[in-house]
Amino acid sequence: MEVVIAPAEELAVLAADAIEALLRREPATVLGLATGSSPLKVYDELARRHEQEGLSFARARGFMLDEYVGLAADHPERYRNVIDTEIASRVDFAPGAVQGPDGLADDLPAACAAYERAIAGAGGVDVQLLGIGTDGHIAFNEPGSSLASRTRIKTLTRQTRVDNARFFDDDVDQVPTHCLTQGLGTIMDARHLVLLATGRHKAEAVHQLVEGPISAMWPATVMQMHPHATVLVDDAAASRLQLGDYYRQTFESKPGWQGL
Ligand code: GLP
Repeated sequence: MEVVIAPAEELAVLAADAIEALLRREPATVLGLATGSSPLKVYDELARRHEQEGLSFARARGFMLDEYVGLAADHPERYRNVIDTEIASRVDFAPGAVQGPDGLADDLPAACAAYERAIAGAGGVDVQLLGIGTDGHIAFNEPGSSLASRTRIKTLTRQTRVDNARFFDDDVDQVPTHCLTQGLGTIMDARHLVLLATGRHKAEAVHQLVEGPISAMWPATVMQMHPHATVLVDDAAASRLQLGDYYRQTFESKPGWQGL
């Protein structure tokens, strides 16, 4: 696992660089798209490069991590709509190239199975963007999630619903109780994981992710088993890392910097 500690703007540039390098090498790349505030600067940077530098997503595909169950099709916080607003509509993805699990399906388990097949059918995810919840969840894999889980229905914890109430008029009762989420096993199949975290409220989750024992109690710790995982954090999110100085030194002295 590589840990990079830098200001948020620099982290976004590094993540965008990794995605751009993939797109230039293989235009038919498969991107794993995350919601939440953590990737927003990355999406801004990608949209800027599309507009100003001709970076094209025309042959790429995108797969979302998760979706709320039951939010109306036109609800602005439905993740499908959030992804459209934040990135899909700002670049040149082909129609239908970005998919997410269907939280409005009549048969939710069948929708989850179909989503797994769609990801596999696309050849798997090349680079997966991730945020992390304060309780250590990635996507919506809450504490206690099987480290081998696949896309399925999950019940959101009270903590996650409180954290996300800011998107729902600060009213926790408006936050859905259930979601569909890629499993930890699904996420681990992606060829490169890039997790972004900023702010002191993420410091304990980041410490556990990087330095804690692998445990379903901190689901993101499964990333320690991934052969190519990058953790991009600002000073505040890095503030509880025991080996913070070492990670800084490693990054600064990295010979022949090749990108993430
Ligand atoms: C949500 C999403 C996650 C995201 C997390 C952190 O619950 N399902 O994918 O990583 O929140 O969100 P933020 O980046 O806004 O802190």
